[in-house]
Amino acid sequence: MTIEKPSANALWGGRFEQGPAALMSRINASIDFDKRFYRQDIAGSRAHCSMLVAKGIIPAADGAAILKGLDQVEREIDEGKMVFDPALEDIHMHVESRLKEIIGEPAGRLHTARSRNDQVATDFRLWVRDAMDRLDGLLADLQKALVTRAAEHVETLMPGFTHLQAAQPVTFGHHMLAYVEMVARDRSRLRDARKRMNENPLGAAALAGTSFPLDRHMTSKALGFDGPMRNSLDAVSARDFAQEYLAMASICATHLSRLAEELVIWSSAQFGFVRMSDAFSSGSSIMPQKRNPDAAELVRAKAGRVIGAFNALTIALKGLALTYGKDMQEDKEPVFDAADTIELCVAASAGMILDMTVNAGAMRRATEVGFLTATDLADWLVREKGLPFRDAHHVTGRAVKLAEGQGIGLEALTLADLQAVHPGITGDVFAVLGVENSVRSRTSFGGTAPARVAEAVAAWQRELGL
Ligand code: ARG
Repeated sequence: MTIEKPSANALWGGRFEQGPAALMSRINASIDFDKRFYRQDIAGSRAHCSMLVAKGIIPAADGAAILKGLDQVEREIDEGKMVFDPALEDIHMHVESRLKEIIGEPAGRLHTARSRNDQVATDFRLWVRDAMDRLDGLLADLQKALVTRAAEHVETLMPGFTHLQAAQPVTFGHHMLAYVEMVARDRSRLRDARKRMNENPLGAAALAGTSFPLDRHMTSKALGFDGPMRNSLDAVSARDFAQEYLAMASICATHLSRLAEELVIWSSAQFGFVRMSDAFSSGSSIMPQKRNPDAAELVRAKAGRVIGAFNALTIALKGLALTYGKDMQEDKEPVFDAADTIELCVAASAGMILDMTVNAGAMRRATEVGFLTATDLADWLVREKGLPFRDAHHVTGRAVKLAEGQGIGLEALTLADLQAVHPGITGDVFAVLGVENSVRSRTSFGGTAPARVAEAVAAWQRELGL
């Protein structure tokens, strides 16, 4: 195939005689990135070719030659032997033109009843489907890593935070399991999107369908699709499957970035809750004491790239008249970049979680500041003394103020101090002022009591086959 050079233009031809063709090929060619789905392109061609033969649309001998030739093209690309040439624009034209070099004339029959429009829609769907399956496997591994650490820390106490202010004591296992739940929803979104997208655009041809007697159910089956897309215009126009993948990946990336942010905070000298392994840290070129949580920081930042990819694709598609427009060639790079990024981030998150050292002592000590059991005192006043919660809240506030003035925790106040705040308080109140008791008492479903966390860990271990 040759690329037409524009005839010299009267206005700028003198200076730009070669220019427009080169620039056109640079802006127009997609081969640099769409070569990434050559396997999907060849799989689509195999399915199309076999169907054309089965329906008597092309001769069986030509079909056999095409299938054999496609095997060779695939092998050549696998082995890095294919010469990519921007003049051939995209992967579809590369495969077909190489096929022609190998098998000659019969190659020309492969594109019967097909257009690059339904071809690219099919290839991209197959690629995104594979990416979804890879991501699901990686997310399962991340869940396993989190559950493994949760199982070790069912009883490990740490401060729970709201506003990043110490709030109530929780267990580290409970905290890990919160992320397991988020990832479970990410996987559920992935499954939903995969189910919706698993329909076959092939056979829509350019946009209107074709006069050839295709069997679109046959190609659907061969490519693992649930069935053919029902409207040919929609089949070549739709990219919402890619948007859904990016939307799902964006939400997942925000979850990962929250975990990453916590790892950054927890691994600081001021917190010291965890120590990131050497494998996921780096030193400073000037400050010898530094262990920087670089991997976590990068996971935190890369969420921006994934969300950016969703924006880029969505903005490219908005306002686009049906059906295919070249704008849609811009669908691939954001998806490829986001897939690489989210897969890397999920794997790195699992690695960091499995590798980090948990400092239970530092977490326990941190529960001693911030009056974490103030709510327990208020609840005790309600339960044991019959105070309305609002009054109990007020009384507890005065006790906190008193302890703060003395620079001690609530549990270190004397009974006399407490009785000065509320005369009905008795010695058994001290039982609820300890963080161990506080945590143990939170037995409501979904609560942080070790007994509950142990149940949740066991349920996840079953679910994940651990
Ligand atoms: N490279 C093109 C893309 O990615 C393939 C489809 C070309 N179709 C067309 N009508 N020019 O969108």
